[in-house]
Amino acid sequence: MDKLVIEGGTRLKGEVAISGAKNALLPILAATLLTEEPCVIKGAPNLRDTNTMLRILRSLGKNAELNKGVVTVTSTKYKNFVADYKLVSTMRASFCVLGPLLAKLKKAKVSLPGGCVIGIRPVDLHLKGIKSLGASLSIESGYVVAKADRLKGSRIYLGGICGSSVLATDNVMMAAVLAEGKTIIEAAACEPEVIDLACVLVKMGAKINGFGTPIIEIEGVKQLHGAEHTIIPDRIEAGTFMIASLITKGDILIKNVLYQHLGAVIDKLEEAGAFISRTDSSVRVRFKRRLKPINVTTLPYPGFPTDMQAQVMSLMSITTGISVITEKIYPDRFMHVAELNRMGAHIQREGPHAIVEGVKELSGAPVMASDLRASACLALAGLVARGKTSVSRIYHLERGYENLEGKLQDLGAKIWREKE
Ligand code: UD1
Repeated sequence: MDKLVIEGGTRLKGEVAISGAKNALLPILAATLLTEEPCVIKGAPNLRDTNTMLRILRSLGKNAELNKGVVTVTSTKYKNFVADYKLVSTMRASFCVLGPLLAKLKKAKVSLPGGCVIGIRPVDLHLKGIKSLGASLSIESGYVVAKADRLKGSRIYLGGICGSSVLATDNVMMAAVLAEGKTIIEAAACEPEVIDLACVLVKMGAKINGFGTPIIEIEGVKQLHGAEHTIIPDRIEAGTFMIASLITKGDILIKNVLYQHLGAVIDKLEEAGAFISRTDSSVRVRFKRRLKPINVTTLPYPGFPTDMQAQVMSLMSITTGISVITEKIYPDRFMHVAELNRMGAHIQREGPHAIVEGVKELSGAPVMASDLRASACLALAGLVARGKTSVSRIYHLERGYENLEGKLQDLGAKIWREKE
C-alpha cells in the first residue's frame, strides 16, 4: 500500500485542470444498463470508483472499457442480474444499478451496501421509490431482490430526515424512465450530478421534465437507445483546489470548472476573505489578506456540500478565530477531526458541530485517511504544516481524485508517494 508524503510550506501557484465528476459518472454508467445500444461517455476520470463500476457492468454482461477519458459501453446480452457483495460493499454508488436492472430485466438482485465510516447511510428511500413503482422487494442473505413484470408510474415523495437523497433520486428516475405511465418524484435531489444523469437519459430517449428542481416528472417510454455524453466537471475536486490555493497563501487558476455549481463554496470562501474571479469555464482563487473564521453548515444542493466539509475544516484550523462547522447530511462525518488535532489543530466536536479554534501553524505528522474527503482534508493540512506529513491508506483518495499528487506537484507542492 502507498502513502502520500508532503513537505509543507510551499505557496501553490499556476493552473490546474479539473477532471470529470465522479458522482455524475457513476450513475450515468449504471444508466447504460437501460439499453442494449452502445453508449460513449467522455471526460471520465480514471479513478478506483470508475473501475469498480466498470467491473460491475462487465459482471452483468456489458463490455465496458475506459480509454483516455472515454468510456465505451457495448453489448447486446445481459448475462446476469446480480450485483455482487464484493463490488457493492466497496462503493455505495453501485447500489444504483438496482433501478436500471429492474427496469430492463424485470428482476434485480443487488447487495445491500452496508454502513461506512461516515455513518449508517441507509437505502430506505431507494427501496421506497422502487416499491412505489410496483416492484416486489425482499431481503435475502444481504441482497435486495426486486421483481416486477411491469413497473407502473407513480407519485413518490423521496424526502428523508436529512433532506433529499442524490442516489435514491437517480435510482428511482432510472427505473421510472421505462415504467408505464407517469411518475412524479417529489423532494427530488437537485444536485448538478442528478441533472447530468437526467440529460443522458433524455439523450437516450427518456421523457423527463423538472430535473434540477425538487419535482421531477417522468413519462415512461418503451425503450431507450444509445447516447454520447460529456461528463460535467467535478465541483468537489475544484473546491478542493480552491482551498489548496488559500491554505498555502497561493494563487491558482482552476480550469474546467462551472462556477455556478460552486455557489455556496465560493460565497463562504469570499466571506473568509478569498479573492475569487470567475470566467465561463474557470475560477481563479487568490490569497491576498489574512482570512477570517467562518461558520459553515452542510446542506443539500445548492447549500454547502458535505463533500467539502472536511477540506474547509483544514482551512479553518489555521485561520485565527473560532469557526463552527455543522454537518447536517452525515452527522457522524468527523473522522478527520482527531487526525487534524494530531497535527496541532484545536477542534472540538459536539454532536453535529465541530468548533474549530484556529491555530498559528500545524505540524507535520503521520496521519491516517478514513474516507475519501477526509484524505483530501489531511493532504491539504499537510501542504501547510511545518515539516513532513504522511497520509496513509491513500486508496481512499484514489477513489475520487484523479492524479491528485501530480496536479499538486505541477502547482509547486512537495508531495510524493512512498511504500508504507
Ligand atoms: C451522494 C454522493 C456523496 C455525497 C452525498 C450527499 C454519489 C456517488 N455520492 O451520496 O458523495 O456525500 O450524495 O451529497 O453521488 N439517506 C436516507 N435514506 C436513503 C438514502 C439516503 O436516509 O435511502 C440519507 C443519508 O443517510 C444522508 C442523506 O440522506 O443523511 C443524503 O444522502 P444521499 O444524498 O443519499 O447520499 P448518496 O446519494 O449516497
